[in-house]
Amino acid sequence: MNVYKIAVIAGDGIGPEVINEGVKVLNKVAELAGDFSFEFTYFPWGCEYYLEHGKMLPDDGMEQLKKFEAVYLGAVGYPGVPDHISLRELLLKIRKQFDQYVNVRPVKLLQGAPCPLKDVTRDQIDMVVIRENSEGEYAGAGDWLFKGKPEEVVLQTGVFSRKGTERIIRYAYELARKTGRTLTSISKANALNYSMVFWDQVFEEVGQEYPDVETHSYLVDAASMFFVKQPERFQIVVTSNLFGDIITDLGAAIAGGMGLAAGANLNPERVYPSMFEPIHGSAPDIAHQGIANPLAALWSASQILDFFGHENWGAKVLDVIEQVMVDKKTLTPDMGGVSSTEEVGNEVVALLSALKTSQV
Ligand SMILES: NC(=O)c1ccc[n+]([C@@H]2O[C@H](COP(=O)([O-])OP(=O)(O)OC[C@H]3O[C@@H](n4cnc5c(N)ncnc54)[C@H](O)[C@@H]3O)[C@@H](O)[C@H]2O)c1
Repeated sequence: MNVYKIAVIAGDGIGPEVINEGVKVLNKVAELAGDFSFEFTYFPWGCEYYLEHGKMLPDDGMEQLKKFEAVYLGAVGYPGVPDHISLRELLLKIRKQFDQYVNVRPVKLLQGAPCPLKDVTRDQIDMVVIRENSEGEYAGAGDWLFKGKPEEVVLQTGVFSRKGTERIIRYAYELARKTGRTLTSISKANALNYSMVFWDQVFEEVGQEYPDVETHSYLVDAASMFFVKQPERFQIVVTSNLFGDIITDLGAAIAGGMGLAAGANLNPERVYPSMFEPIHGSAPDIAHQGIANPLAALWSASQILDFFGHENWGAKVLDVIEQVMVDKKTLTPDMGGVSSTEEVGNEVVALLSALKTSQV
């Protein structure tokens, strides 16, 4: 019997509310599967912790997390603590120190999910965006010269190492090969004459090893247009940190909105834990009311199941999320329903149990 050890950082605002449902669903899946289980360890880190201790996590926090295979994160950030502190000192610290250089963002329009595009069917939006998660434009390199003077200059340097660029592109090629899907690189070599020329070159070089993978390349501006006009062009997408950040929000917008979007931060070599999170924030405006939509956190739970090799169960959780949206009986207010966070979680658990019973 495999026991998967997961560190839970439920975080702030609606974080704990949606993560509770994710934990409930994962435990249910384990019970139904019968051959694995989860061991969850909770860490009370986040803004409340910061206000009490002056830091987002204890000094040995990263050491504590290292012992786990995965981290399940709700959301961090709350009024009273500057966002750059909550983001940099917890979320980005984990991504960076655990070398979670692959950000996987599924952009898939499930049946029943709200879609702002006209006449788009479910099969037209079904892609996975692989975003570089460790360097690029978010490396934090640069300078601020002559601060406050008329000749003030700021420099924000994009860092593209050969190792960092090759490994993310290779990961995407491997995924495209494994799934038999096309691979599209999104860059901007016409304007970014060092970083993106290099990116395109590496995309081509690595591609020599994958003659079986059909590839496409787009400039990020054209890609943004096609995300809206012809999303069916994209299957597996690979892009840099900044472009990935932006186009995955666009992806979330066309495929059900923030209440549904999930992301995985992977350290593929599994030297360090990988981290799974709904991509929405802590939503202080609706926190503690029990009305947050837990579906994005449940999609993250399905990514956790994939990560541990239980893709069949991951797919079942997605099927059930889809069923909940098609039924429209148990939805939170952001999706036009009147149900609570807990009721949606309970419905997913009930549908999973029914699925199992009907298969027996
Ligand atoms: N990954 C993270 O931890 C993360 C991501 C984004 C923002 N944040 C932090 O969260 C705080 C709030 O940020 P924000 O308001 O810009 O973004 P947000 O995602 O928290 O909220 C934006 C809007 O979407 C709604 N919303 C978000 N998630 C929802 C859900 N599951 N169900 C129903 N409605 C939902 C909110 O009510 C709000 O109106 C800030 O402190 C920010 O730094 C954290």
